[in-house]
Amino acid sequence: MAIEKKMEHAFNEQINKEYFSEYLYLDMKTRFALMNLPGFVNWFDIQVQEERAHAEGMYNYVLERGGNVELFAIDKPEIKGSTPLEIFKHVLEHEQYVTSRINAVYDVAEELKDRAAMLFLNWYVKEQVEEEASVGDVLAKLELIGDDKQGLLALDKELAARVFNPPIIK
Ligand code: FEO
Repeated sequence: MAIEKKMEHAFNEQINKEYFSEYLYLDMKTRFALMNLPGFVNWFDIQVQEERAHAEGMYNYVLERGGNVELFAIDKPEIKGSTPLEIFKHVLEHEQYVTSRINAVYDVAEELKDRAAMLFLNWYVKEQVEEEASVGDVLAKLELIGDDKQGLLALDKELAARVFNPPIIK
Protein backbone atom coordinates (compact mmCIF):
# COMPACT_ATOMS: atom_id res chain seq x y z
CA MET A 1 0.00 0.00 0.00
CA ALA A 2 1.44 3.36 -1.03
CA ILE A 3 2.35 5.73 1.75
CA GLU A 4 -0.16 8.49 2.57
CA LYS A 5 0.88 12.10 2.01
CA LYS A 6 0.64 13.00 5.70
CA MET A 7 2.89 10.08 6.61
CA GLU A 8 5.30 10.92 3.81
CA HIS A 9 5.53 14.51 5.08
CA ALA A 10 6.18 13.40 8.65
CA PHE A 11 9.05 11.19 7.42
CA ASN A 12 10.44 13.98 5.26
CA GLU A 13 10.47 16.34 8.22
CA GLN A 14 12.25 13.73 10.32
CA ILE A 15 14.81 13.07 7.57
CA ASN A 16 15.62 16.78 7.83
CA LYS A 17 15.98 16.53 11.63
CA GLU A 18 18.37 13.59 11.29
CA TYR A 19 20.49 15.47 8.76
CA PHE A 20 20.42 18.48 11.08
CA SER A 21 21.67 16.18 13.87
CA GLU A 22 24.52 15.09 11.61
CA TYR A 23 25.35 18.75 11.02
CA LEU A 24 25.12 19.65 14.71
CA TYR A 25 27.44 16.82 15.72
CA LEU A 26 29.86 17.69 12.94
CA ASP A 27 30.04 21.20 14.37
CA MET A 28 30.55 19.79 17.88
CA LYS A 29 33.29 17.52 16.52
CA THR A 30 35.10 20.65 15.31
CA ARG A 31 34.90 22.21 18.81
CA PHE A 32 36.58 19.14 20.31
CA ALA A 33 39.20 19.02 17.55
CA LEU A 34 40.08 22.61 18.49
CA MET A 35 40.32 21.52 22.15
CA ASN A 36 42.80 18.76 21.13
CA LEU A 37 40.62 15.98 22.48
CA PRO A 38 40.86 13.21 19.81
CA GLY A 39 38.75 10.71 21.74
CA PHE A 40 35.81 13.11 21.82
CA VAL A 41 36.43 13.83 18.13
CA ASN A 42 36.12 10.09 17.48
CA TRP A 43 32.91 9.92 19.54
CA PHE A 44 31.34 12.72 17.50
CA ASP A 45 32.62 11.28 14.24
CA ILE A 46 30.67 8.11 14.99
CA GLN A 47 27.67 10.14 16.04
CA VAL A 48 27.79 11.95 12.68
CA GLN A 49 27.82 8.63 10.81
CA GLU A 50 24.95 7.30 12.91
CA GLU A 51 22.80 10.34 12.18
CA ARG A 52 23.41 9.97 8.47
CA ALA A 53 22.42 6.31 8.74
CA HIS A 54 19.22 7.33 10.59
CA ALA A 55 18.35 9.78 7.79
CA GLU A 56 19.17 7.27 5.06
CA GLY A 57 17.10 4.58 6.74
CA MET A 58 14.02 6.78 6.49
CA TYR A 59 14.96 7.97 3.02
CA ASN A 60 15.09 4.38 1.78
CA TYR A 61 11.87 3.51 3.56
CA VAL A 62 9.87 6.36 1.99
CA LEU A 63 11.08 5.33 -1.49
CA GLU A 64 10.34 1.68 -0.76
CA ARG A 65 6.77 2.66 0.09
CA GLY A 66 6.40 4.42 -3.24
CA GLY A 67 6.63 7.88 -1.69
CA ASN A 68 8.62 10.98 -2.56
CA VAL A 69 11.54 12.26 -0.53
CA GLU A 70 11.56 16.03 -0.29
CA LEU A 71 14.74 17.48 1.13
CA PHE A 72 14.36 20.68 3.14
CA ALA A 73 17.02 23.26 4.02
CA ILE A 74 19.24 22.28 6.94
CA ASP A 75 19.44 24.88 9.73
CA LYS A 76 22.77 26.30 10.81
CA PRO A 77 23.76 24.57 14.06
CA GLU A 78 24.09 26.76 17.15
CA ILE A 79 25.96 25.01 19.95
CA LYS A 80 24.94 25.96 23.47
CA GLY A 81 28.05 26.46 25.58
CA SER A 82 31.70 25.77 24.89
CA THR A 83 33.04 23.41 27.58
CA PRO A 84 32.78 19.60 27.18
CA LEU A 85 30.17 19.53 29.96
CA GLU A 86 28.06 22.30 28.41
CA ILE A 87 28.26 20.70 24.98
CA PHE A 88 27.17 17.30 26.30
CA LYS A 89 24.25 18.91 28.11
CA HIS A 90 23.23 20.23 24.71
CA VAL A 91 23.69 16.77 23.13
CA LEU A 92 21.37 15.21 25.70
CA GLU A 93 18.81 17.98 25.26
CA HIS A 94 18.99 17.49 21.49
CA GLU A 95 18.54 13.72 21.71
CA GLN A 96 15.53 14.20 24.00
CA TYR A 97 14.10 16.53 21.37
CA VAL A 98 14.76 13.95 18.62
CA THR A 99 12.99 11.32 20.73
CA SER A 100 9.96 13.60 20.98
CA ARG A 101 10.00 14.08 17.18
CA ILE A 102 10.25 10.32 16.52
CA ASN A 103 7.29 9.88 18.84
CA ALA A 104 5.42 12.51 16.82
CA VAL A 105 6.09 10.57 13.58
CA TYR A 106 4.86 7.45 15.35
CA ASP A 107 1.70 9.31 16.36
CA VAL A 108 0.98 10.05 12.68
CA ALA A 109 1.48 6.36 11.80
CA GLU A 110 -0.90 5.42 14.59
CA GLU A 111 -3.49 7.99 13.52
CA LEU A 112 -3.36 6.67 9.93
CA LYS A 113 -3.33 3.05 11.14
CA ASP A 114 -0.16 2.60 9.08
CA ARG A 115 1.05 -0.60 10.69
CA ALA A 116 4.05 -1.00 8.38
CA ALA A 117 5.30 2.46 9.37
CA MET A 118 4.75 1.70 13.07
CA LEU A 119 6.81 -1.49 12.77
CA PHE A 120 9.53 0.37 10.92
CA LEU A 121 9.57 3.16 13.52
CA ASN A 122 9.99 0.71 16.37
CA TRP A 123 13.69 0.53 15.48
CA TYR A 124 13.98 4.32 15.95
CA VAL A 125 12.08 4.28 19.23
CA LYS A 126 14.54 1.71 20.61
CA GLU A 127 17.52 3.51 19.11
CA GLN A 128 16.55 6.71 20.93
CA VAL A 129 16.63 4.87 24.25
CA GLU A 130 20.22 3.85 23.43
CA GLU A 131 21.15 7.30 22.18
CA GLU A 132 19.95 9.01 25.35
CA ALA A 133 21.64 6.38 27.54
CA SER A 134 25.04 6.63 25.83
CA VAL A 135 24.99 10.44 25.95
CA GLY A 136 23.81 10.37 29.57
CA ASP A 137 26.73 8.11 30.42
CA VAL A 138 29.32 10.56 29.05
CA LEU A 139 27.51 13.48 30.67
CA ALA A 140 27.51 11.78 34.09
CA LYS A 141 31.26 11.18 33.78
CA LEU A 142 31.89 14.80 32.82
CA GLU A 143 29.91 15.91 35.86
CA LEU A 144 32.07 13.70 38.09
CA ILE A 145 35.27 14.94 36.48
CA GLY A 146 34.47 18.61 37.06
CA ASP A 147 37.69 20.64 36.59
CA ASP A 148 40.01 17.64 36.86
CA LYS A 149 42.17 17.72 33.69
CA GLN A 150 43.54 14.21 34.29
CA GLY A 151 40.01 12.89 34.50
CA LEU A 152 39.12 14.60 31.23
CA LEU A 153 42.14 13.06 29.49
CA ALA A 154 41.20 9.61 30.84
CA LEU A 155 37.66 10.02 29.49
CA ASP A 156 39.08 11.19 26.16
CA LYS A 157 41.08 7.98 25.97
CA GLU A 158 37.98 5.94 26.75
CA LEU A 159 35.97 7.66 24.00
CA ALA A 160 38.75 6.99 21.50
CA ALA A 161 37.83 3.30 21.70
CA ARG A 162 34.28 3.79 20.41
CA VAL A 163 33.75 2.10 17.04
CA PHE A 164 31.10 2.62 14.39
CA ASN A 165 28.85 -0.35 13.73
CA PRO A 166 26.66 0.52 10.74
CA PRO A 167 23.07 0.06 11.96
CA ILE A 168 20.76 -2.33 10.16
CA ILE A 169 17.50 -0.42 9.94
CA LYS A 170 14.45 -2.35 8.84
FE1 FEO B 1 19.12 10.19 15.02
FE2 FEO B 1 20.77 10.78 17.56
O1 FEO B 1 19.16 10.38 16.79
